[in-house]
Amino acid sequence: MLEGKKVLIGVTGSIAAYKVPFLVRLLKKEGAEVKVLVSEAAKDFVTPLTLSTLSGNPVLSGFFDESTGKWESHVDLGNWADVYLIAPVTATTLGKLANGIADNLLIAVYLAAKCPVFFAPAMDLDMFHHPSTANNIKKLTAIGNKLIEPREGELASGLIGAGRMEEPEAIVERLSVFFDKKKDFANRKVLITAGPTYEAIDPVRFIGNHSSGKMGFAIAEELAERGARVILVAGPVSIGTFHENIKRIDVKSAEEMYNACMSCHSDVDIAILTAAVADYSPKNVAREKIKKKSNSLSIDLKPTKDILAELGRRKTNEQFLVGFALETENELANAKKKLKNKNLDFIVLNSLKEKGAGFGHDTNKITIIDKQLKVTPFELKSKQAVAIDIADRIIELFSS
Ligand code: CTP
Repeated sequence: MLEGKKVLIGVTGSIAAYKVPFLVRLLKKEGAEVKVLVSEAAKDFVTPLTLSTLSGNPVLSGFFDESTGKWESHVDLGNWADVYLIAPVTATTLGKLANGIADNLLIAVYLAAKCPVFFAPAMDLDMFHHPSTANNIKKLTAIGNKLIEPREGELASGLIGAGRMEEPEAIVERLSVFFDKKKDFANRKVLITAGPTYEAIDPVRFIGNHSSGKMGFAIAEELAERGARVILVAGPVSIGTFHENIKRIDVKSAEEMYNACMSCHSDVDIAILTAAVADYSPKNVAREKIKKKSNSLSIDLKPTKDILAELGRRKTNEQFLVGFALETENELANAKKKLKNKNLDFIVLNSLKEKGAGFGHDTNKITIIDKQLKVTPFELKSKQAVAIDIADRIIELFSS
């Protein structure tokens, strides 16, 4: 699967660097071309000679190679690679990557790279669970870098928990799957809504909800990877997307989201509405900030327009429509009702009762109910894996 692929590996100073020679060998066996960059600290754990022998290429470390008198161009290296894999990545390098501190060649290449970047952390479990590390990982994944999650197990410190760098075989498998992505959405235009909406009360306050947008963004990324041209209508969220196949339209209110969707729906093949749209918005938006008074305050609300229901009315026989349902009671019955009332091809049910599912989490547990009322429950998975399940089901039903 990796025949002819150019893999650039960045190695930082963790004991897990001992796995990199195995990784290089496996990649070469799969037909990849491999170049390796090491940080100064990495050389204490694995020798450049081992890595250059196995990769068949000189191992680079500093900006300037004293033996050849040559300046190493981080831009050229970034352009050369089809993928940049930073493994193992220490907590320190995670912090520098997340903040763009390019004080070595490995990080300068990261900032210059145009290719996809995977990173495989390795550290002790307390360091891995520290909020600073978690924030850095969040920052890096939010801008499109792909996390290879560390495994649970015995760590070099003797502690047991998460922090072991993923095994070389699994890393190679992950890269193979990435390069082997089916292009089964090629030439398909897809509209996706994601995130919450904010309904203004006055110039400083709004009615909103806890939706993070992660599920919709994960679906957008998955479909774009598989060849779709995606229009992503996003409410106010703090995540980014960088795929060239994704055109993002940022909106705030339910009305703005409605208008954005209506203006492009006739042109799309598939619409997937994951957004948590406010059902009500204030009847009147106060022009000035509402001042505090001693008595209670009532705000008159009016219903917003239901985007999904309207797209269900407008949809032609050639168009496919997917809705989401977030339920807290009578989940299946309510979801089936929405499926029918809104004229959907299928509905994705997620329950707030499931641990690790729903708003804000990186995981989700869904059930898909199709037009024939066939109910398919799925396991709790990462939102990326859930996006794959949803994409597979769309292709299966859309093409049949
Ligand atoms: N939805 C929409 N526009 C709205 C409200 C909801 O497009 N104004 C979409 C959501 O994106 C989701 C689906 O409708 O795909 C279901 O949303 P949900 O809030 O679960 O259901 P509602 O139809 O709003 O019903 P209720 O809140 O009463 O459960």
